[in-house]
Amino acid sequence: MCGIVGYVGHRDVVNILINGLKRLEYRGYDSAGIAVFNEGAELICRKKRGKVRELEHSLSEEPLSGKVGIAHTRWSTHGAPTEINAHPHFDCKKELAVVHNGIIENYQELKDSLIMEGHNFVSETDTEVIAHLIEKFYENDLEEAVRRALKELHGSYAICVVHKNEPHKVVGARLDSPLVIGVGKNENFLASDIPPILEYTRDIIYVENGEIVTLEADNVTIKNLDGARVEKLPEKIGWDIGQAEKKGFPHYMLKEIFEQPEVIKRIINTRISGEKIHFDELKISDEDLLKPRNIAIVACGTAYHAGLTGKYMLEECTRTPVWTDTSSEFRYRDPIVNEDTLMIVISQSGETADTLAALREARKRGAKILAICNVLGSSIARESDGVIFTHAGPEIAVASTKAYTAQLATLYLFTIYMARLKSALGEDKIKELLDEFKTIPSLLETILLRYKAEGNEISHYAKDFKAYYEKRHTKSFFLYLARNINYPNALEGALKLKEISYISAEGYPAGEMKHGPIALIDENPWVVCIVTKSRTYDKMRSNIQEIKARGGIVIGIITSGDEHIKSLNLNYIIEVPQVHEFFSPILVAVPLQLLAYYVAREFGYDIDQPRNLAKSVTVE
Ligand code: AGP
Repeated sequence: MCGIVGYVGHRDVVNILINGLKRLEYRGYDSAGIAVFNEGAELICRKKRGKVRELEHSLSEEPLSGKVGIAHTRWSTHGAPTEINAHPHFDCKKELAVVHNGIIENYQELKDSLIMEGHNFVSETDTEVIAHLIEKFYENDLEEAVRRALKELHGSYAICVVHKNEPHKVVGARLDSPLVIGVGKNENFLASDIPPILEYTRDIIYVENGEIVTLEADNVTIKNLDGARVEKLPEKIGWDIGQAEKKGFPHYMLKEIFEQPEVIKRIINTRISGEKIHFDELKISDEDLLKPRNIAIVACGTAYHAGLTGKYMLEECTRTPVWTDTSSEFRYRDPIVNEDTLMIVISQSGETADTLAALREARKRGAKILAICNVLGSSIARESDGVIFTHAGPEIAVASTKAYTAQLATLYLFTIYMARLKSALGEDKIKELLDEFKTIPSLLETILLRYKAEGNEISHYAKDFKAYYEKRHTKSFFLYLARNINYPNALEGALKLKEISYISAEGYPAGEMKHGPIALIDENPWVVCIVTKSRTYDKMRSNIQEIKARGGIVIGIITSGDEHIKSLNLNYIIEVPQVHEFFSPILVAVPLQLLAYYVAREFGYDIDQPRNLAKSVTVE
């Protein structure tokens, strides 16, 4: 997920582009670049590795100016975050420049055929293919060349393109990646999102899939891929800039919770074609994946909870022994790890010190290291033998949400991939699982739709808890109970609540209650029970009866339409759609995130930047 900006008008384009990129930095910040037409209508480019301020600094040393240009801030998906791979990308003669947000899935075969036709490629990116394709079709009509090039692309894109022969124009297009037009007086804007534009105009046009836009200072034309004009009127936007960066959500955490269907859809589009699962960036061969006789999964915090769920998945489907550990324990306990171990390290940031040290420890002992990571170019990604990226996009809120479900989704696909490799599951079973997995984005949308509106049930439960907490003189706390593949979610639910609401909370395997924690049950604790349809459903029902019998307050996360559970008089109910038990953790994660969010909001805490925490813990 990158950010792009385009401008044609009367103002200093460099200023507009740099400010625009800064407002899109939440979308990606590992390199940035611009291309502008200077007063002499020459096309000048500048790119820098790192945050937008690095580019800004270089422009303050060697200024550029002009009235037309495009810009990009990057979140690497193909090719490490280097200056070469930074956008804009060019054709062979450096006459046209492209900035792109999205993933071109068929870029390798297009690249191979363009090289056969004599094109020279300089970067490792998928995006550069677009520049050479437009060059191939260019006959002094940029819009037409873009239209023909787009017809060759598979995947997602939002692009802005300029050509030296048409220095008063910016051409843009979109398929699945967001793009908006800002309509001004003698100036017009293109951007991945509204924040870069709001300072200059509130007249916005949303570009739809399959539309091509040509911007000139005094004109905007929109056409479909067949070249037919599309008439559209601008909408007036009432948000302030802060609101816009959060897409109108009050916090990044809530925005990122609502991004999860899109993230899982992107993973499905990137990883599955037909019944085939592919991890193109994974530099560990199938042969080497088959060699280890046991799998170790090591991580910290939320990533550890994803790993623990991965253990249930992998053992069930591949019959390979899997053990898990937190990185800080693993690195100091002299672990039994050797050539027979496939070590999976999981990290959103890829910079967590304990996980990096655990990785190095395991490497010293001969293990093969596979990283599941969200940040390209991060230390953990670079130091592993192989990496699978989770494509969740930048996660700004400290409390991890979309990165967690992206880790679960990636572990599901890796599990099915390994089960196929080991012939541990038949093709029919694999097809059944993949078909069910592809329904996850819409099931997530169903949950989020139900709990979207202000004043939704979960926000009410949070209000009730706050009142109860104050009435009971802060003695109330939370317990999270679950069984089997949802047990890690009980840990995750408790962590989410602790880290943003500072309320004491503990996750427990429900079967352990009788061995101690049930002593805590009286009218103080609020007990979240994950009791969706599963092989341990009846056991969970008994646990709930034991808690209710001792006056405990129960929030039940249940399968929609489960009338049977309602006979237990749960105090509060949160419903998730019916899904195969195997996949239920990815759905159940969402209400756990929302409950923590609304409780923290009731207490008025800084949800995106909770006290004492950092987004990436780079120290021991
Ligand atoms: C989760 O919400 C926390 N931010 C924290 O527990 C986090 O999961 C942990 O620090 C691991 O971070 P990583 O995934 O970047 O390695």
